[in-house]
Amino acid sequence: MKIGIIGAGTIGTTLAKHLTRACYEVLISNSRGGETLKEKVKEIGGNISAGSLQEAAEAAVVFLAVRWEHAQEALSAISLDGAILIDMTNASLPEFIGAEPGSKTSSEVVSEWAKGAKVVKAFNTLYAHVLAENPKVDGGNRVIFYSGNDKEAKDVVSGIITSIGFSGIDLGTLHEGGKLQRFPGGPLPTLNLIHTK
Ligand SMILES: NC(=O)c1ccc[n+]([C@@H]2O[C@H](COP(=O)([O-])OP(=O)(O)OC[C@H]3O[C@@H](n4cnc5c(N)ncnc54)[C@H](OP(=O)(O)O)[C@@H]3O)[C@@H](O)[C@H]2O)c1
Repeated sequence: MKIGIIGAGTIGTTLAKHLTRACYEVLISNSRGGETLKEKVKEIGGNISAGSLQEAAEAAVVFLAVRWEHAQEALSAISLDGAILIDMTNASLPEFIGAEPGSKTSSEVVSEWAKGAKVVKAFNTLYAHVLAENPKVDGGNRVIFYSGNDKEAKDVVSGIITSIGFSGIDLGTLHEGGKLQRFPGGPLPTLNLIHTK
């Protein structure tokens, strides 16, 4: 399965390393073009290349790893028809932090911007230095929370989570799960749980 990553900063790079270690084919992108990512691609290693935003968007599964203030701009520049978009962003804005019960979560807003994509929120609750560590710990697996409205998309994301060594926990819809994953303000961010069998 080919995986695209939009954003080649701290969290995009961290995720790319897990994916290439698990032998996924990865294409990573940033705002300045693939030619600026030659050193980054060497650092990550494995089956990875750098390309344009649209090339990343053409993968079956696409990670969104940009700062919230750049998310709409990045998504408006691409066509994501039918792709699964994994939203790793955190929106530190008053309208999301401590929001009224009925109000939208940030991933619901991302869904509106990412036309044609099936959005799953995942990998946003751990600090990058924790996410970077080996997910297999003391006979268990580090937990990744995910939520989304499309069951098939969540099954694919769950498979990726497992295949790179983590243990996924499905929190439900983007509305309900998104509230639990909200950073800051939700109860789950920064929790570093290990799932033992
Ligand atoms: N860092 C963490 O511990 C952590 C943990 C969980 C979740 N997150 C979330 O992950 C997201 C990224 O955080 P980060 O720490 O990785 O940020 P970062 O290090 O600043 O990296 C941001 C990346 O986004 C790219 N970018 C900016 N605008 C873009 C655009 N319009 N189109 C395409 N790419 C664009 C940047 O590329 P250029 O350099 O070319 O502009 C850069 O590669 C944030 O929403 C953050 O809340 C971060």
